[in-house]
Order: sequence, then C-alpha cells, then structure tokens
Amino acid sequence: MTVPAFRAPKGTFDLVPPRGEAMLAVRDTLAAPLRSAGYGYVETPSFEETTLFARGVGESTDIVTKEMYSFTTRGGDDVTLRPEGTAPVLRAVLENGLHRGALPVKLWYSGSYYRYERPQKGRYRHFSQVGAEILGTEDPASDAELIVLAVDAYRALGLTGVRVLLNSLGSHESRPAYRAALQEYLRGLDLDEETARRVEINPLRVLDDKRPEIQKALASAPIITDFLSPSDRAHHDTVRSLLTSAGVDFEDDPRLVRGLDYYTRTLFEFVHDGLGSQSAVGGGGRYDGLSELIGGPALPGVGWALGADRTLLAMEAEGLPLPGVTGVQVFAVPLGDEAAAWAFGLVTQLRRAGVAADFATGGRGLKGAMKAADRSGAKYAVVVGARDLAEGVAQVKDLATGEQQAISLNGLVTHLQRLV
Ligand code: HAM
Repeated sequence: MTVPAFRAPKGTFDLVPPRGEAMLAVRDTLAAPLRSAGYGYVETPSFEETTLFARGVGESTDIVTKEMYSFTTRGGDDVTLRPEGTAPVLRAVLENGLHRGALPVKLWYSGSYYRYERPQKGRYRHFSQVGAEILGTEDPASDAELIVLAVDAYRALGLTGVRVLLNSLGSHESRPAYRAALQEYLRGLDLDEETARRVEINPLRVLDDKRPEIQKALASAPIITDFLSPSDRAHHDTVRSLLTSAGVDFEDDPRLVRGLDYYTRTLFEFVHDGLGSQSAVGGGGRYDGLSELIGGPALPGVGWALGADRTLLAMEAEGLPLPGVTGVQVFAVPLGDEAAAWAFGLVTQLRRAGVAADFATGGRGLKGAMKAADRSGAKYAVVVGARDLAEGVAQVKDLATGEQQAISLNGLVTHLQRLV
C-alpha cells in the first residue's frame, strides 16, 4: 500500500460514508427539538476578532491561554478561529440589534469549532457543535427548557446513557462570598506553584482540576450551594422543579464548574459513561454578565452546545445503528450502449419524480452491475437491454426476492413510484 502524501492535520479527521451521513443525521436530530420550539437559525463567521474571545470566554481560561488558533491577517487584524459559539452569537445579536426587538431572542446554530487541545479519543482540534442560546430573559423556565430540549434530542437519537449534572454558580450576589471562602480553604492546601497562582486569579477553576490528589484535597472544600443568596436559590429551585415536572432526571453536582468564565447561576453538563475521560457530550449554563463583558448593554442569557462528534461516539458505544444511511431505492442496470443512454434518462426522470435512483456506469457487464445494485441498498433493479427496448419493456427485479417482471416503458416511472 502506498503512503498518502498528505494526511488530515493532527487532531482532525475526515467523515466519509457511512459515518458522514450519520453525522448529518446526528446534527439534524440534535437541532429538531429547537426548531419545533421556536428557535431561529443563526450563522456567524468561523473566525472573530481575538479580543471577543479573550474578553468573553475569559483571559485566564485554558481555552484563551493555550487553545486558540489565533493569527494576524495580511491586513494586520488579530483574529481567532472560533473555539466556541456563545460569544460570537451574542456579538451577532448586538450587532444586528436583535436585542432591541421582542425578547427573548431564541437562536440555534450548528458548525465547526477549533481548539488546540491535546488530541485523544473524543477530543479533537476541529469538532462540531449544535448550540442554542436564549437572550433577554432571566426566567428560570428558559434554563429548564434548554435542558429538556437537549435531553429530548439525545432520546430521539436512541441514547439511554446520558446523565444530566446540574449546579448553580450563583450571581454577583453569591459569588464573592463563595470565592473568598474557597480561596481561604485552598490557601490552606499544599499546592504546586501554578495551582497556587490559579487560587489567586480564578479559584473556581481549581475545582475542575482532574488530578486525583487535588480532587482528594477538595473533598471538604466549601460548596457554592451553601452560599446562594435567596433569589439565586429560588432561581435554582425553580429550574429543579420544572425539570422534575418534565420528567427529566438530573444529579445535583455542587462541584461542577466548566472551562468558560462567563457562567452565572445555572450550570449543567450532559455526560455519557461510555466515552472514557472525554465524557461530556454537551454542556451550558446561564451567562447574565457576558453582554456587558463584550461591550453590550445588560442582556441576560442562557444556552448550551452539544458536541456532535462525541454524541456519535456515544451512539456507537451504545451499539446503536448508524443513523441517516439511506442509499437509493431504484438502481438501473443497462446492458449495451443504447440501453445506457436510455437508463440515464430513466434515472433522471425518477429523481425528478422524487424516487432516489442510481445507475451502473462504465458499461459494466450484468454481473458487475448487479453487484453494484446490491451494494447501493436499492430495493429494485431495472434491468434493460436492446431487446427489451425494442419490445417497449424493462425488467423490474425485486432484489430481496429475486422476482422479476416485465413492465411497459410508458408506465415505468409511475409503476416504480408506487412500488417504493
Ligand atoms: P463546551 O463545554 O466548551 O461549551 O463545549 C460543548 C461541547 O462541545 C462539549 O460538551 C463537547 O461535547 C464538545 N467539545 C468541546 N471541545 C471539544 C473537542 N476538543 N473535541 C470534541 N468535542 C468537543 C461551550 O462551547 C459553550 N459555548 C456552551 C454554551 C452555550 N454555554 C452557553 N451557551
């Protein structure tokens, strides 16, 4: 075997059939509940001004310090391939004045994201998300709605192993007291230099440190839910009771933090245990201060992004069949040049009539062409030679039973339309 001269860049991969179709179907199914819940579709560029992410996602996050694909353009602009979608969508809302119309604004999106991470199974440098954001309301029903829609999307794909982890990070009313208490606790621990620095800059991030010795030391750290103000607690309790009334199971996880700094109040993650260490198939939360951080007016928001790549891996881990692989319904097998030109015309007519159809190319003999018909997934083959054409018929063969019938050319398209 020859070694190809070029390969997909490290941490990226190609989607080829049938996984390509499966990924399309996964994205469609993840988005379907949003489309039937009144969300509008938004598309933003794949790159943005670097400062949008530095300010929006947070200067001290791993994403901004280590993982961004940033570069200076020929014109001297500093831009970054988007590592996430929330800051860009909010930027687009503000720029297009959507926040000045009827509120809330409910949007969904789907696309490619880029993070310079250490590649491993489920963690890529180019990955795909379906996301949703609700802007302009502090109503806890919006937080609950989003969680329910994500759970419904996973269910629609047939997944049974997705768990919902739920927390509240509190608002500006609760966070300072918690931050101080956590800092005091962390300062009492014997930590390496970098972690000790993080305690001073962003102590909540330490809770996300996966090293076992740190997790052990955190066992008796103060938890945010003990510090929630009455209104933050009421918000959290409403989200919890709405989820329960919608029949959505969740696990309270008071140590849940996420890798983006914009979160306030509700925070959640969807995890799947069949994925190893990269177990988060999706996540999100409320971000009531993000608009101001990127220079906008006060505009509360809540949203999530579901990772399409990991969702597909989760389906494979559960042994679910790949979705979206349909193939064609009819396959034309012409024998000889005259029949080939006729079959080309037939297939064109069938496609225009809404029947998925394909044909054997390259003047293949009957055996090779029938093999191609079987591979195509079609239920029926239309076998036709010069003699059939002279008699005004084509042979329609049921590929499952092997039964064959001569059908008049005049009524052939209608006949096949009825059959499939
Ligand atoms: P995130 O947790 O960084 O959140 O990403 C959401 C999901 O994208 C993850 O749960 C995971 O499934 C997938 N994902 C992230 N990084 C990778 C990667 N390197 N390889 C494969 N999949 C990955 C956000 O991006 C927020 N913008 C979500 C949000 C929306 N919060 C509020 N609104």
